[in-house]
Amino acid sequence: MSSQDSSASQVTISTLLRAKQAGEKFACLTAYDASFARILDKAEIDVILVGDSLGMVVQGRATTVPVSMDDMVYHSRLVARGCERALLMADMPFMSFASPAEAATNAARLMQEGGAHMVKLEGGAIQLSTVEYLSDRGVPVCAHLGLQPQSIHQLGGYRVQGREDAAARAMLEDAARLEQAGAATLLLECVPSQLAAEISAAASVPVIGIGAGPACDGQILVLYDMLGIAPGKRLRFSHDFLADTGSVAAAVAAYAAAVKGGSFPTPEHGFE
Ligand code: KIV
Repeated sequence: MSSQDSSASQVTISTLLRAKQAGEKFACLTAYDASFARILDKAEIDVILVGDSLGMVVQGRATTVPVSMDDMVYHSRLVARGCERALLMADMPFMSFASPAEAATNAARLMQEGGAHMVKLEGGAIQLSTVEYLSDRGVPVCAHLGLQPQSIHQLGGYRVQGREDAAARAMLEDAARLEQAGAATLLLECVPSQLAAEISAAASVPVIGIGAGPACDGQILVLYDMLGIAPGKRLRFSHDFLADTGSVAAAVAAYAAAVKGGSFPTPEHGFE
């Protein structure tokens, strides 16, 4: 996103759309509290996601499955207090969108109590009716495709998704149908770079990638991964910006500049 667009004015879905149309990359990160949100906001991170990854990196759980609606509302509210410029997106936790009506009740909580501008939910074609129901009622939705950590017990492991031809075709189709159903943005997690490039080129809405190669319109990382403080092994698609820079603010600014300047992610951060 150009420095003109990345001024102090509030980032909206229209800002992201304009960036996509102009071929300008935008930068996204997760945050879970007001202090980090303030640092991200000042560094002109365009989208701050209150991810259900908080279950793992904040609460110390093994997966995101136990994260509750109350957890998400609480952390969204904290982040909203530190956020002036960025678009605030909040995750719908496991089973909080099992039906369109339940999704509407819970999305309303994230927006009214948590201050979110957009909600994100995991799932492909199975979520079409929910995406349509929410977007028809004024809720901007980000549809999360590829690796869906809430399905970890079904998947049996965190693996790249869409490598086989049939799975790739299904994901391309799901992306198009979700956009048609009203999804305001798409997010691709751990998807082969070539497939992510095809989905991004075909989509009219902004596509955010994580472990999905350099061609997505925006990039996101889990904050604690890019600061090198998340437990577990270093992820191939992430980078420790704190080790490069020595302070949290400088690390976040370096990440924002690298994404917007096109130097992160490199093809080596992606998957075939
Ligand atoms: O919960 C989260 O942090 C996410 C990101 C991995 C995109 O969904």
